[in-house]
Amino acid sequence: MPIQTIQNPIPADIIDLGLGDPNPSLFPLDMLRRAANERFAQNDPSFLQYGIEQGDGYFRLALARFLETGYGSPMQPETIFVTAGISSALDLLCTLFTQAGDTVFVEEATYFIAPKIFADHHLNIVPIAMDENGLVIESLQEKLETFKPKFLYTIPVHHNPTGTTLSGPRRARLIELAQQYDFLVLADEVYQLLSYGNRPPKPFATHTDVQNIISLGSFSKILAPGLRLGWIQAHPNKIQRLIASGLLDSGGGMNPFTSSIVRGVIESGDLDQHVNKLIETYGSRLKKMESLLQEHLTNVTYTTPQGGYFFWLRLPEHVDAVELRQKAKSLKFDIRPGTLFSCENGLQNYIRLCFAHYDEGQIEQGILRLKECLENTYGHSNMMI
Ligand SMILES: Cc1ncc(COP(=O)(O)O)c(C=O)c1O
Repeated sequence: MPIQTIQNPIPADIIDLGLGDPNPSLFPLDMLRRAANERFAQNDPSFLQYGIEQGDGYFRLALARFLETGYGSPMQPETIFVTAGISSALDLLCTLFTQAGDTVFVEEATYFIAPKIFADHHLNIVPIAMDENGLVIESLQEKLETFKPKFLYTIPVHHNPTGTTLSGPRRARLIELAQQYDFLVLADEVYQLLSYGNRPPKPFATHTDVQNIISLGSFSKILAPGLRLGWIQAHPNKIQRLIASGLLDSGGGMNPFTSSIVRGVIESGDLDQHVNKLIETYGSRLKKMESLLQEHLTNVTYTTPQGGYFFWLRLPEHVDAVELRQKAKSLKFDIRPGTLFSCENGLQNYIRLCFAHYDEGQIEQGILRLKECLENTYGHSNMMI
């Protein structure tokens, strides 16, 4: 058995258009090397000590300035709490704000690994419907009549997997409902800074004055997931609760070492430059995938994403995407079937495609294989209905 170092290795001859990991060729090794060298060249070893619970103050200051530019609103370092990425932040939030048996709401569809974290905490997961403008408020209101959720987990911008963005009026209504029914909104804003088309509404991170709102951010998609670095933005009362947790009391702040290096990447202006490069690269990959879909798969429907990583394709009703995925393997490509993202075993005729991982030539190869696979399985791809 070869020794494995990464979570999702892709065999060289496979094009996996389903995978939502960034491509290592876009990791800014030089920028990180430079920042690390500078940190080690200083004679202050304090970044190797247990860190302050909320996260290195200089790093939070740099992060606040960086987010101000990207989010277009003033950001306070006092309302930022440093995490080891969104996944670990969700786990900590479940530990502190829920008990086994509590109900939580998720979107149908949702980022498929989040419900696994909630299941680890023995939470009862209830799905809320979505449409092309994100979470459907009427569906939320209906469920609020039956359930008393501890939180709603939502991906309000460039959603994974559907690519949709929650409209401004729905955001306002959601905040009102959270206050009225007293539940938390865990807004996963991992793709907020990766916009290539219409600018999204201001993030939930601009609402740290509201006790019910918790915004989650991450460096995984704007720098590198191996850093395991992210942040929470929330009301000072919530930040105090996080700081007071046993986990932080024992281990100190999360990732003081990594955050002190990433601070250098931010302060040098390198991160701004890198994010601009990602926006340019991903924006043109999105356009490429869209034009290929228009040319080769005229019988699928989708809402063109304005950012993020994903196209969410609706195939004709009788297509079973799990079966399609099985067939895809023999044609040396892969997709992610809709059921993966469903909490009620629905969405059978949907697939998620990622336009961020591969270059434009490989995207073309992948789409041509998908077309061939659909034709082999269901007849001519334009005559599938
Ligand atoms: C919506 C969403 N949230 C969270 C994550 C994971 O974030 P992190 O690497 O910060 O744990 C991903 C990664 O694909 C994602 O798409």
